[in-house]
Amino acid sequence: MTSSLPAETAELTKGCCAAAYSGDVVAMVLGESYHPGGLALTRGLLAHLDLAAGARVLDVASGRGATALVIAAEHPVEVDGVDLSESNVVHATDAAREAGLAERLRFHAGDAERLPFPDAVFDAVVCECAFCTFPDKATAARELARVLRPGGRLGITDVTIAPPGLSGDLAGLAGWVACLADARPLDEYSSILAAAGMRTVHTERHDAALARMVEQIDARLRALRMMRSTLPALASVDFERAAELTAQAAAAVRDGVAGYAMLVAVRQGAPARP
Ligand SMILES: C[S@@+](CC[C@H](N)C(=O)[O-])C[C@H]1O[C@@H](n2cnc3c(N)ncnc32)[C@H](O)[C@@H]1O
Repeated sequence: MTSSLPAETAELTKGCCAAAYSGDVVAMVLGESYHPGGLALTRGLLAHLDLAAGARVLDVASGRGATALVIAAEHPVEVDGVDLSESNVVHATDAAREAGLAERLRFHAGDAERLPFPDAVFDAVVCECAFCTFPDKATAARELARVLRPGGRLGITDVTIAPPGLSGDLAGLAGWVACLADARPLDEYSSILAAAGMRTVHTERHDAALARMVEQIDARLRALRMMRSTLPALASVDFERAAELTAQAAAAVRDGVAGYAMLVAVRQGAPARP
């Protein structure tokens, strides 16, 4: 499978997603981690990754570092995080220093489709709520496989979309930024990973976590809307549009079209090449 977008549009889309998830308002709306299920689901995912002492772990699309911070704080491992947004990398690096974890936890600016690491250096790779946004999923999957050692584990939590798919605004760029527009059915994620040399060994559905996150976003948007005259950061937020998109997302979850899932895969013997 190749990217469904022309190269220029794909770069624009990635940039938009990274920019959208760099803002302080997004941090106010989404809270500690930027994915459904929060850090409880992250811990559930980590339990499937066999993180031995001294292992090297990569968090792809690490955002402001929530997942990577939990990994480094709760496991005796070395952690790297990589995110397309430079400002997220700065936030995450500050958080690692403040947590006293800087020696074992580093963040880098980089693209999931061109990871800035050598082959087979990681024992585990995680990617939360981001694979769905990568325009060229086959290339990103090959990159995840390339940096994993054979036998190493990949842990993903991500948005899933069931047929007939999304309609309205969510099918466009706004949906992409909201991690919905290019999400795929869980089976399709497994197929993309299989083509890159990774065998799915475990999946779990967490659809209720997405429903809760959409409710939380709606509630926080309402609260922020009431505070908008007091906080300069909120002046440029189009609350009406945000409420419309949130209502559409809630309907997609209610109708069983949008959901959230965990997937664990094992890197097979030889890396897949294009
Ligand atoms: C929904 S947030 C998830 C952040 C984090 N994984 C978490 O769960 O808290 C999506 C993240 O993906 C990053 N991102 C989007 N496209 C990327 C790419 N091609 N390579 C690396 N990071 C990317 C964005 O900058 C953003 O931080």
